[in-house]
Amino acid sequence: MNQPMNQPMNTGQVAPMALQVRGLSKRFGGIHALSGVDFEVPSGQCVALIGPNGAGKSTCFACLAGQQTPSAGEVFWQGRPLLGLSPAQRLQQGVSRTFQVAQTFEALTVLQNIQLVLRDAAALAWWDRLDQRQAQRASQLASQVGLQDLTQASVAGLSYGAKKRLELAMALAGLTATQPALLLLDEPAAGLSGDERAQMMALVKQVAASGVTVLYTEHNMDAVFGVADRVLVLMQGRLVADGLPEAVAQDPEVLSHYLGLDFQTGAALAQRTARPVEREDGHG
Ligand SMILES: Nc1ncnc2c1ncn2[C@@H]1O[C@H](COP(=O)(O)OP(=O)(O)OP(=O)(O)O)[C@@H](O)[C@H]1O
Ligand SMILES: [Mg+2]
Repeated sequence: MNQPMNQPMNTGQVAPMALQVRGLSKRFGGIHALSGVDFEVPSGQCVALIGPNGAGKSTCFACLAGQQTPSAGEVFWQGRPLLGLSPAQRLQQGVSRTFQVAQTFEALTVLQNIQLVLRDAAALAWWDRLDQRQAQRASQLASQVGLQDLTQASVAGLSYGAKKRLELAMALAGLTATQPALLLLDEPAAGLSGDERAQMMALVKQVAASGVTVLYTEHNMDAVFGVADRVLVLMQGRLVADGLPEAVAQDPEVLSHYLGLDFQTGAALAQRTARPVEREDGHG
């Protein structure tokens, strides 16, 4: 029987997970920030990592992206070990991140911020850098996050919501279209209004729909339910739940220790007023 060209051959082999995290542990002195965390993420999945303050979410991201060295454990991306590589080397492998507090260059323009990352990335071949394509690519990325009218604006004058979107554009600028990509977003919607949060999460969904594997942290449940394909819950450095959002929302431990016993998924969804990305006017 003929196999369609776009279907994998059924060899009985299970496709390897894009991201594999095994026994990840991190201690800061006597603090066990992460204790034996195991999870796997298939390519293109959009996963929310949630949990109370101090649960270890940012530490987990720092171990995946290379800002922190785990005390124990293994991390594989596309079957290759990441530990031991610098953040820049991990970026070259397609692992990009944003930070809990937006990290942008205030004195530069929106376009310059994105171009700085493009210059360092393998995103463009050397001949692309010699012409205008780098500027075009930076403009495309600014447009993708709704900053097309602010490309020449100084970042110092942007609203916080615009800075968070710029940081997303910068994280995307480090990736290439030809390589599998993992985007780690540490509280992409922190400090944003409800409307801005809905816009940001619509962007995150768009990125995941384009095939990028996304792992993000978030405290606002309207940015988790209806957005994530899957939810991981960390508490005191341990993974206590991993599953579909609706299953995690009914997990007794998650409800009693984090979401609250009166948590309603429907109420979280109702808070969301997802709208398309609008023109950013720099106010508010
Ligand atoms: N560089 C560090 N040095 C010492 N302790 C740290 C360091 N970074 C994190 N910790 C501690 O590790 C634990 C996990 O912190 P982490 O920032 O990963 O939590 P989090 O889940 O991201 O919290 P939040 O939701 O508040 O951002 C906390 O007890 C924190 O105080
Ligand atoms: Mg954090």
